[in-house]
Amino acid sequence: MSLLSSRGGRRGPILCFLALLFVFGLYQLGLICGPSKDGPTSMMIAKEKYVVSSLDHKKYSYDRTMPLIFIGGVPRSGTTLMRAMLDAHPDVRCGQETRVIPRILQMRSHWLKSERESVRLVEAGISKEVMDSAIAAFCLEVIARHGEPAPRLCNKDPLTLKMGSYVLELFPNAKFLFMVRDGRATVHSIISRKVTITGFDLTSYRQCLTKWNHAISVMHSQCKEVGSDKCLMVPYEQLVLHPREWMKKILSFLDVPWNESVLHHEEFINKPGGVPLSKVERSSDQVIKPVNLEALTKWVGHIPDDVVRDMPDIAPMLSVLGYDPYSNPPVYGAPDSLVSDNTRRVLADGEIWAAKARQLSLQRVASMPNEEDPSDSPNA
Ligand code: A3P
Repeated sequence: MSLLSSRGGRRGPILCFLALLFVFGLYQLGLICGPSKDGPTSMMIAKEKYVVSSLDHKKYSYDRTMPLIFIGGVPRSGTTLMRAMLDAHPDVRCGQETRVIPRILQMRSHWLKSERESVRLVEAGISKEVMDSAIAAFCLEVIARHGEPAPRLCNKDPLTLKMGSYVLELFPNAKFLFMVRDGRATVHSIISRKVTITGFDLTSYRQCLTKWNHAISVMHSQCKEVGSDKCLMVPYEQLVLHPREWMKKILSFLDVPWNESVLHHEEFINKPGGVPLSKVERSSDQVIKPVNLEALTKWVGHIPDDVVRDMPDIAPMLSVLGYDPYSNPPVYGAPDSLVSDNTRRVLADGEIWAAKARQLSLQRVASMPNEEDPSDSPNA
């Protein structure tokens, strides 16, 4: 008994010392919280985040280091077509516009622009690190959970690219696809389809082209800033004329293996693991069709003469992007046979496509009033 108690007596302090050493070790590794001279920073271990697929029942984890894909561009530049073609790939899921992602990014740039607000945030302990991790978590949750999981997740909120370099700070392995389209076609699409975008005056081609020029130049600088290994410019005209060549280029840039389904996105509309469409997005009734040339030169003859004359001055970005501002239209190129066949089918069977849109309840889009949406403001 005395032997036992004397052994126990010696073991006590040793165990105590070891326990203290263990706790100190955890503290040093940052695995438990403690005060810091820089304020109440860090030291929380995030639980693994994942989504279970309802299709293959596999677990897909997600985190900030994943190679997200962001599709951007001025609205009406073929961004929905681009994401539909990627959505058709079995390894990729983009999904509908989330709308909230560009909004939160914009909100942060507003806060940063105001010196007073910035000071208040820092004084409240909302350091850059805290802000970045909160915004990244918000964006990631939305991207990961607004649709089925997939090995490669993608986001298509066109104006997010305006904050491309910041998005790359949040998601260091992300890549961008920058959809570029002849500004005259983009503006004609905005005006003729009455797509309200804050800052765009739908009664004036001149004003809209000026706004287009500003928005595209911001995105172009962001794309250049993040570098060619992170941002690929995709001209809408070339994508629709030569979809195979361009999708090969795009998938190789994204490190996604080739799959023929990207050339037939229309076969996967609203199918499980395919191309989910929103009933209220403005491009849904166009993207149900195969890649075609219907929209390529629709703008010709609709722009007032004085605007056509002053085009190089109103929209200098046209030349920067390789579009001849004096040609109406420029020579975009000759289409692949797949695209010519698709276009023939699309133009011949107008009623079939209208019926398909009705069947998918997309008809509502045309009759819905347009809503002014501050998140669509390329100047915001
Ligand atoms: P138009 O309005 O000139 O017809 P976004 O999705 O970025 O808003 O771009 C919309 C443009 O993409 C529309 O231009 C639309 O016709 C075009 N588009 C959508 N689906 C397409 C398809 N299957 N083939 C070719 N262009 C398509």
